Amino acid sequence: MEKFTKSSILRDSHEILKVTNLSKSYKNKKVLREINLNVSYGESVALIGSNGSGKSTLIKCLLGLTNIEKGEIYTNQIRLNMKNNNLLKFYRRDIAFIWQTHNLVPRLSVLSNVIHGSLNSHPNPRLWYQAFAPSEIRSRALNCLDQVGLKNFAKNNVNTLSGGESQRVAIARALMQKPKLMIADEPVASLDPKVGIEVMNLLKDLTLKQGITLFFTTHDLKHAEHYANRVIGLKDGVIKINIKSKELNELDVDEFYAA
Ligand SMILES: Nc1ncnc2c1ncn2[C@@H]1O[C@H](COP(=O)(O)OP(=O)(O)O)[C@@H](O)[C@H]1O
Ligand SMILES: [Mg+2]
Repeated sequence: MEKFTKSSILRDSHEILKVTNLSKSYKNKKVLREINLNVSYGESVALIGSNGSGKSTLIKCLLGLTNIEKGEIYTNQIRLNMKNNNLLKFYRRDIAFIWQTHNLVPRLSVLSNVIHGSLNSHPNPRLWYQAFAPSEIRSRALNCLDQVGLKNFAKNNVNTLSGGESQRVAIARALMQKPKLMIADEPVASLDPKVGIEVMNLLKDLTLKQGITLFFTTHDLKHAEHYANRVIGLKDGVIKINIKSKELNELDVDEFYAA
């Protein structure tokens, strides 16, 4: 691992996420304009905004999945640096990501998919199939599956799972990473309302219990109110609202979502 310069690490910050003056464009279209954003350790933050407002783009920037034009991002006190693969890996070490659809590897077992969560910290081809994984990692994966209520599904093929079960497996895979920050982009948008609530309850309970900071996007204002402490709203490339979730009932929803 390369040595960090002093400016790559923020020491003793109480913020797990610190974004300053972040700008991002696609071709000539400016999507994010000088975004400033701070999230403290242990918070749960909902990001809202109309379709195309840049929520997923902001998340891609936070994960180091797209080049940023301007600005700085620190996660868990480490500065995002996309110019060096080792530094990027180090930056991503404490962040787990939940996609809208689970992104599990088809045809593999549930347990193999959960074990994949440890591939970042242990890049070992033996971890691709559960049968070859070291027993310590297998038992940790079983424990993560237990936490999402699916221990008995370990040997099942992921193709046989329902949408809600698949998303639970994705959460177990994320927990394998022992993350400090869980980022989820519309994690329940493809689930029915009842299962969506179950999955959000699970996400909230597990992150709260394990001291993991949760940052998620949603179109469901009830979810924002119920599962987040704070709500941030993106519009026209800037953060237009930054409020406590209990203040959401004061938001002029029609105006915020108007084009
Ligand atoms: N890879 C891309 N190339 C070009 N334009 C993109 C790309 N990804 C997103 N956009 C555009 O950026 C804007 C923001 O998109 P996105 O971040 O997906 O918004 P949201 O997640 O809030 O719906 C949209 O206008 C979208 O069309
Ligand atoms: Mg999106």
